[in-house]
Amino acid sequence: MALIDRKLAQEAADLQKALTRHNYRYHVLDDPEISDAEYDRMMNRLIAIEEEYPSLSSPDSPTRRVGAPPVEAFESAAHTLPMLSLDNGFNDGDLMDFHHRVSKLLLEKNLLYIAEPKLDGVAVELRYENGLLTLATTRGDGIVGEVITENVKTIRSVPLSLFKTEHHGIPEFLEVRGEVIINREDFAALNQYRLKMDQPVFANPRNAAAGSLRQLDSRITAKRPLNIFVYGAGSVKGLEYASHSELFKILQTFNFAVNPLIRDNLTIHEVLEHYKELEQKRKSLPYEIDGMVVKVDSLAYQQQLGIKKRSPRWAIAYKFPAVQETTTIVDILVQVGRTGTLTPIALLEPVKVGGVIVSRATLHNEDEIAKKDIRINDTVLVERAGDVIPKVVKVIESMRNGSEKKFVMPKACPVCAGEVKRIRGEAALKCINASCPAQRKERIVHFVSKGGFDIDGLGRKLVEKLVEEKMIASFADIFYLEKDRLAAMDRMADKSAGNLIQAIETSRKISLPRFIFALGIDHTGENAAALLADVFHSLENLRKADVAEIEKIDGIGPKTAAAVHDFFVSPENAAVLDQLLAKGVEILETKKKADNQGSPPLKGKRIVLTGKLETMTRSEAKKALENAGAKLVSSVSSKTDLVVAGKSPGSKRDKAAYLGIKIIDETAFSSLLKSE
Ligand code: IVH
Repeated sequence: MALIDRKLAQEAADLQKALTRHNYRYHVLDDPEISDAEYDRMMNRLIAIEEEYPSLSSPDSPTRRVGAPPVEAFESAAHTLPMLSLDNGFNDGDLMDFHHRVSKLLLEKNLLYIAEPKLDGVAVELRYENGLLTLATTRGDGIVGEVITENVKTIRSVPLSLFKTEHHGIPEFLEVRGEVIINREDFAALNQYRLKMDQPVFANPRNAAAGSLRQLDSRITAKRPLNIFVYGAGSVKGLEYASHSELFKILQTFNFAVNPLIRDNLTIHEVLEHYKELEQKRKSLPYEIDGMVVKVDSLAYQQQLGIKKRSPRWAIAYKFPAVQETTTIVDILVQVGRTGTLTPIALLEPVKVGGVIVSRATLHNEDEIAKKDIRINDTVLVERAGDVIPKVVKVIESMRNGSEKKFVMPKACPVCAGEVKRIRGEAALKCINASCPAQRKERIVHFVSKGGFDIDGLGRKLVEKLVEEKMIASFADIFYLEKDRLAAMDRMADKSAGNLIQAIETSRKISLPRFIFALGIDHTGENAAALLADVFHSLENLRKADVAEIEKIDGIGPKTAAAVHDFFVSPENAAVLDQLLAKGVEILETKKKADNQGSPPLKGKRIVLTGKLETMTRSEAKKALENAGAKLVSSVSSKTDLVVAGKSPGSKRDKAAYLGIKIIDETAFSSLLKSE
């Protein structure tokens, strides 16, 4: 018996290793060595062995890719380091500006860049602890993401464990970031299958990838043709590299899929040439890309440049031009938004723009209509750029035949018939009745939307119905909803009611930027919400802030400051906020960051030393810091105030740069100690 077990154990181990390798050859290298039938035969044998002897399975066995039993809801997890976004450039001039900016900051004329296709998919982060994939998350709001580990494990090009080679040891901790995509052909086949099964089709490969990753049942995800290309790292312990291109080389040895169109060692002029090449190749690529990402290659330079609020200074996305098509305007209707703004919307003869059917486009306001002389029945050029709402670029006047009708904005609110006013200095007409049902609905739709409380299953239609049936009137009412009353609604199954209650429950924990965004304050989008959260750290502080304090924030204008202040001083809003907190809405507070300007006095500061100091020993440095009332701490976190980087600093310096924590060298450190 013992002998059979040992033989079987060996067979299982051999099969696991061989299948992992064949899987990699097929899904990453696109160069299989064996037939699909042979692969299936080996896999079935391994499944049979592991089923009979579960102890012979391992957490990274290729059999684990079939999916796990469904979960009730996704858990949230804070990213170790924020997942940033990128600044955009739209022409060569923007790229040259970027180049001049970074060259000047670095005092380096001959900078070298790495250029990568900007993949149009869904960002994920993969955490490997001692080589084993232990956590996978979505980007979420960049600070907190959703845990989708089981779903990600089903993606064949994601290594379940890091491949060991003689080149590198296995790092103790490694977070790899990448983009999950679906190839065009697979996307077409998936939609065809869905049509056949009477299921709604996906609008584009990115939506299909996002929808597949957000399945509560990972066995469904396992059936979706998902792929990944990795493009960066989060927090890293136990791995050294000097450049982004070197990181890619290391990731490749671990068996990650690195995009073949990445070019390094490029001057800015070569970057611009590569852009043209990429643009030409774009249509013939098997997957969709929406631009090129350009990064300063040297890690030391990246650290020196650091990050701004939401994006690194060392990278830029050079976007491809938007896709345009012509169509006709069938009618123009007027929508009332959550702040009462009346927005004219063009109803279009449906047209496919960049793979997505477009049947509406915003016309913004009456000035815009007048400026472009847009009329009903006009033939127009429409444009869609990525996620942006489609817009009318211009009227094709030569196509006019006399049937066109001028459009006039209504004199009263089309929903509540209340008074409309044009606010001084603004182009928009506004319905000034704050309890206009349209505004009420829109505010709630916004509150539960993706950037806000992100309540699954609570879409526009259901919100409208709940408001109409008087089941909700304010934000807080959402948290008073009961399953039985929901289930009693028309066309609401018991299960959906249960799921909705569960989704509401999960949404209770929310990051501060999302919470602020969800409130739908005038002029306060995701960016402003993030800035406010960065500065005030808690709702309590924000509620107490005066206009001047808010207006002081870099990036917040007077209009936003006034709107934010007005919002929080309103007694009705205060009551709703109190109700939300009373109903257990829990705001995850953002940690206080170090001041980036000027030299902070050392008293009470948490300081990390990394690398070798030349003019003093570590214990001397520690003593000096203690004398100055500072605290020497060993690891960098968002609570760290200052990092002193000596010679050959390690990953602590990277982490500090990512977190936007002030980094100084030994000379600056010495003078800081002297000034104390
Ligand atoms: S780097 C700090 N590289 O674009 C830099 N991002 O707008 C962070 N993306 O969320 C991103 N291809 O989902 C990077 N080669 C690439 C990319 C890429 C696609 C996406 C990614 C990110 C978004 C940033």
